[in-house]
Amino acid sequence: MKRRKFISLTGAGIAGTTLLSSAPVKIQGSEVRLTFGHGPDDSGTIQALIDKFNERHKDEIRVSWKTMSRLSNVYHQQLASDFNVESGEVEVFTADVPWTAEFSSKKWISEITKDFYRDYTPEDFLTNTLKSTYYNYRMWGVPWYTDIGLLFYRRDLLEKSGFDGPPKTWTELTSMAKKTKSATGIRHGFVFQGAEYEGGVANALEYIWNAGGKVLTGNISVAGSFGQRVIDPNVITVNSTNAAQGLMSARNLIKQGVTPRAVVNYSEMESWQDFVSGNAVFMRNWPFALGNLGDPELYKLEREQVGIAAIPTLGTSNRSYSCQGGWNLMINRYTSDRKKEAAWKFIRFMTAPEQQKYMAINGGFLPTYRRLYDDSEILQVMPSIGEGKSILENARVRPMTPFYQQMAPRISRSFNRVLRGETSGTAAVAVLERELRTVLRKNR
Ligand code: GLC
Repeated sequence: MKRRKFISLTGAGIAGTTLLSSAPVKIQGSEVRLTFGHGPDDSGTIQALIDKFNERHKDEIRVSWKTMSRLSNVYHQQLASDFNVESGEVEVFTADVPWTAEFSSKKWISEITKDFYRDYTPEDFLTNTLKSTYYNYRMWGVPWYTDIGLLFYRRDLLEKSGFDGPPKTWTELTSMAKKTKSATGIRHGFVFQGAEYEGGVANALEYIWNAGGKVLTGNISVAGSFGQRVIDPNVITVNSTNAAQGLMSARNLIKQGVTPRAVVNYSEMESWQDFVSGNAVFMRNWPFALGNLGDPELYKLEREQVGIAAIPTLGTSNRSYSCQGGWNLMINRYTSDRKKEAAWKFIRFMTAPEQQKYMAINGGFLPTYRRLYDDSEILQVMPSIGEGKSILENARVRPMTPFYQQMAPRISRSFNRVLRGETSGTAAVAVLERELRTVLRKNR
C-alpha cells in the first residue's frame, strides 16, 4: 500500500506541548542502537516520528523499527518466542492492552513505575488506558494510543436513502442497510471482523456485551491498578441466553444478506478495503480507519462522507459497549541498562502530547493524553474525536488475566463457528463456558 502524503507538523501549534520533551541528555560512549517492535502503519506517521527522534538524538540513540505482524496474536507469538529464550532482539516495543498481566507475570518486561511517576502525572492519561498498564500494583508500560470499536457509516448514502442518522440497534442497521443497498446498488450492508484471531475476540465481545451478556464477572479484572485489590477474573458467566443471542445477532446479519459470508475470514484490513473502496454502507473497525481516509489519490471516500457512531445493540434496552483496544510502550526485561535508559527516552518522546497530536491528525490514532481531546487543531481535522470521547466512556476492556492467551482463541473460535452456521449461539456459549473454566482450573 502506498504511503499517504504527510501533513507537516511545522507550525501546527505545538507550542505548549513541550511538557515531556526534555533536552537530550548524552549517554556516555557510542551511539545506542535500539530495535523497536510494532506492527505496520500504513499512514506513515510512526516512521516519521522515529525519524524525528533519531534526528533529535543524532550520534546518541538510533532507533530502527522491526515491523512485526499486523495481527495482534501473531505479533504476540513473535515476541513470546524471543522472550522465552530471554532474547533482547526487540528492546522497546508495543504491547496490546490485554498482554500486560501475562508479560508481567512471566517477567518478560521491565517495571517502569518509578520512571513513570518521575516524568508523568497519572491524570495526564485517560484512566482506562492507564489501567491497562498496571498489574499487581506495578506499572509496566506507558499508554501510547488507544482504540475503541466504532461503527463507521456512509453519511452520504444514508442521507440519500432518507435516513438522518446512524442506527442504534442491529434491527435498525439491518433495515437501513437493506434499503440503502437497493437504493444505491452498493454491494454490502455491513462488514466486521469475524476471522479466528484477536480482532474476532473484540468483535465477539461487543456482540455479547451489547446483548446484555458477559464473559467473565464484570468483564474487568482490576488487577491491582490504583491500589485496588488484585482480582483475577475467575467467574465465567458466558453461558447465558443474552450471550447466546449476542453471538446470534452477528450470524443473523449474514443470514439476512446484510453482511457477506466472507466476513468469517475478515480481519481489520479486509473490512477496511471493502469500506474504502465504496463497497459497504457500514463497517465495524478501529479509529485508524478514519485517519487513513482523505487522500483522494488513494481512496474513493472523503472524510466528510463517513460518520462514526457507537456499536449498535440488540434491542433498545441494552447499552452499547465498545471493546477497548490500544497499544502500550514497554521495555524488554532482557535488555542492558544502557539500552533501557535509551528506551525510556524513546517512550517519553513517542508518548509526549506533541507526538500523540501528530499521530491523531495524520494517522487517526486516538490519543491517550487526556487534554488532546479538547485540542482545537485536532478537533478541526477530526471532528469525530469528540464522538470518540463519549464512546470511550462506554469502553470495556478484555479480561486482564495472565491466562488471556489461552482464553482468547476459544472466544474467537466460538464466534467464528457461529458465524459459519456450524453451531448455534446456545451451544457455542455452553462449550465456551466449559473451555474457559478449564483454562482457569488448569492454571490454578
Ligand atoms: C487493534 C487494537 C488491539 C486489538 C487488535 C485486534 O490493534 O488496538 O487492542 O487487539 O486491534 O485485531
